[in-house]
Amino acid sequence: MYLARALTDRAAAAVADLGRPVVGGSDAPPDRDALHAGLAGAAAAVVTVTERVDAAALDAAGPALRVVATVSVGFDHIDVAAAAERGVVVTNTPGVLDRATADHAFALVLAVCRRVAEGDRLVRSGQPWVWGPRMLVGLDVSAGATLGIVGYGRIGQAVARRARAFDMTVLAASPSRRPGTEQDGVTFGTLEQVLADSDVVSVHTPLTPTTRHLIDAAALATMRPGGYLVNTARGGVVDEDALVDALRSGRLRGAALDVFVGEPRVDPRLLEFDQVVLTPHTASAGEATRDAMGLLAVRNVADVLAGRAAPTPVPG
Ligand code: DGY
Repeated sequence: MYLARALTDRAAAAVADLGRPVVGGSDAPPDRDALHAGLAGAAAAVVTVTERVDAAALDAAGPALRVVATVSVGFDHIDVAAAAERGVVVTNTPGVLDRATADHAFALVLAVCRRVAEGDRLVRSGQPWVWGPRMLVGLDVSAGATLGIVGYGRIGQAVARRARAFDMTVLAASPSRRPGTEQDGVTFGTLEQVLADSDVVSVHTPLTPTTRHLIDAAALATMRPGGYLVNTARGGVVDEDALVDALRSGRLRGAALDVFVGEPRVDPRLLEFDQVVLTPHTASAGEATRDAMGLLAVRNVADVLAGRAAPTPVPG
């Protein structure tokens, strides 16, 4: 079996319990050649968002490969159709990271609106500072602000619960919800309505051909002037050029991003703005969450190799 990256101790113990020879498992992501070499002859592969499992990688693995289990809920890094053509099951880790990801998304909402990173940089800089009525003033999240959620799956819903607990008005846009309806204090609207009526927009859609650049120049122009954008989904859902333009023009006041188009490279233009908070794709990085993700991936492998149905195959 091929393990692309080192997992947490508990997940690594579960891998060892499978009793199969394991190759790989380094801390750093394998490059393309190392990935292909590691996959060669494997019956199972545990991968992460840093590995591109395309048709060439599947061919490099060869006919023994039965399952590719990604330690992530997103699976845009895997060519699912090419895997299906080769009879390879692809699994992901839905459900176990909703809370951690929603916590992080909401932490970013608070951080960007209340200028937490700017304050931290100021204090660390050693520059003299003194309390002032106009110093680092930001948006009052819990005093009438509206959060717009784009994508109302498990993570979007968990973010909505956090926002409601902070007394925010919550709007959401989702293909599966009828605009004008309401549930659990969340009002559903079209994407345009949600963008136009929210102070902060938080993105929670998977990256698919339909959602690539869903938040483009037109969408950003629809947002409230002085609004904020938070993205913990996938970099490609947002057109980064358009986002930079919206920040440069002042149309948007700030953004908080955990994911980037060219990850791990971050477009240097995003570093220009004080009111942009950046985290390195760590939204799911809770201790128990990362254990649960690894354990679920290993369970998927174990079940497929034992001839059982995978507990969490990717939706196809
Ligand atoms: C996922 O699960 O898709 C995240 O992006 C990585 O935790």
